[in-house]
Amino acid sequence: MPERTPAPALVREALYLSVSGQLGGAERCLLSMLEGLTARGWSCAVVVAGPGPLPDSLRGLGVEAIALPMPEELLRQTRSSRQPWSAYIRGAGAATRYYWLLRQYLASRRPAVLHSNGLKMHLLTALLPARLRRSLVWHLHDFPPAGMAGRLLGVASRRARLLIANSSAVRQAWLVRYPRLEGRIEVVHNAVSAPSIDVDRAGAAFRQEHGLAPHAFLAGMVAVLAPWKGHEVFLEAARLVHARDPEVRFAIIGGDVYDTAGHGGRREALQRMCARLGLNEIVTFIGFQSEGVEAAYCALDVLVHASTKPEPFGRTIIEAMAVGRPVIAANAGGVPEIVREGVDGLLTPSRDAEALAEAILRLAHRPVLRQSLSHSGLERVRSMFSITEQTRRLEEIYLRLQEG
Ligand code: GLC
Repeated sequence: MPERTPAPALVREALYLSVSGQLGGAERCLLSMLEGLTARGWSCAVVVAGPGPLPDSLRGLGVEAIALPMPEELLRQTRSSRQPWSAYIRGAGAATRYYWLLRQYLASRRPAVLHSNGLKMHLLTALLPARLRRSLVWHLHDFPPAGMAGRLLGVASRRARLLIANSSAVRQAWLVRYPRLEGRIEVVHNAVSAPSIDVDRAGAAFRQEHGLAPHAFLAGMVAVLAPWKGHEVFLEAARLVHARDPEVRFAIIGGDVYDTAGHGGRREALQRMCARLGLNEIVTFIGFQSEGVEAAYCALDVLVHASTKPEPFGRTIIEAMAVGRPVIAANAGGVPEIVREGVDGLLTPSRDAEALAEAILRLAHRPVLRQSLSHSGLERVRSMFSITEQTRRLEEIYLRLQEG
């Protein structure tokens, strides 16, 4: 009988590359992946290029954080197609220097799995010699960018062994843009763990700490203050709700997290809008919560998601559902993969402040509906967006990478 070669054992070791050191959606997704993998005995480490609280959160999970600071001019590059060429040229010099630093580090480490978690890292990893990208996986958290960055990514994407998309919508968009990726993009949805705190008590404490009315019906957004997150739509809806029910209160939770050109100064602009609409008394601005974001969800009666562009996935939605809070979300991108209209939450058309106001009023006045959405939302998160399921999918993918 011919001897069978035994299947290679899975090496439970992965290195992750994160440009951002902040705790935006992509980094929170990374943390949940690491939570699941380390519990299954994986040895994980993360290269962090930008400043922020991510390394502390990693250490909290027992995961090694390697600081490999990226030059400022590269960190600040956006994926906007309107950038002047000079910005690309300056960025290219910085990218070359950084690439060599990264390459040297990877050569010394030789991880069994190399998992890149953002567009800039994707581009850099594509330049690596074949031996260092044998098990390279790109995690796509966004739709493909337009312009120069999009063209570069199209070429570079041939170098990744596999790509993970955070939703079917994102997978589909990359395939339409780069048909050559057919057969190489897997969908792995975000996951959240069950609440680690007493939901009602944490919510009450959060309200007290931030001067929010203890018993008022509170609708809030938890999002980076990026222009496309739709805070203006939310404030416009607040104005409409206020005209019909002056008791409802609103919260905007989040900060100017990403320090790229075009972001920043948003909070002041939104506060000016609030003053103009006469909403100062009913809208509270609460900064970015690096630690207590779970408690922030607990404090809300409804989480509003109002992105004006299709949301790639919408992690904030499952984070709210996981603590049993009903959600209203803009119906585009990956969102309908999470929320079934009227079952796990309410869906409204993007940019439609009137529909959003209507939905907020419905929930404010119908406790039974709130309860049923919250109940199914919890069930949905447990069955579709659990850490266990996410870990299973990742292990399957990592095994394939190592076999190939
Ligand atoms: C990005 C996307 C967001 C998604 C998150 C995690 O931040 O914009 O939609 O939830 O990544 O995948």
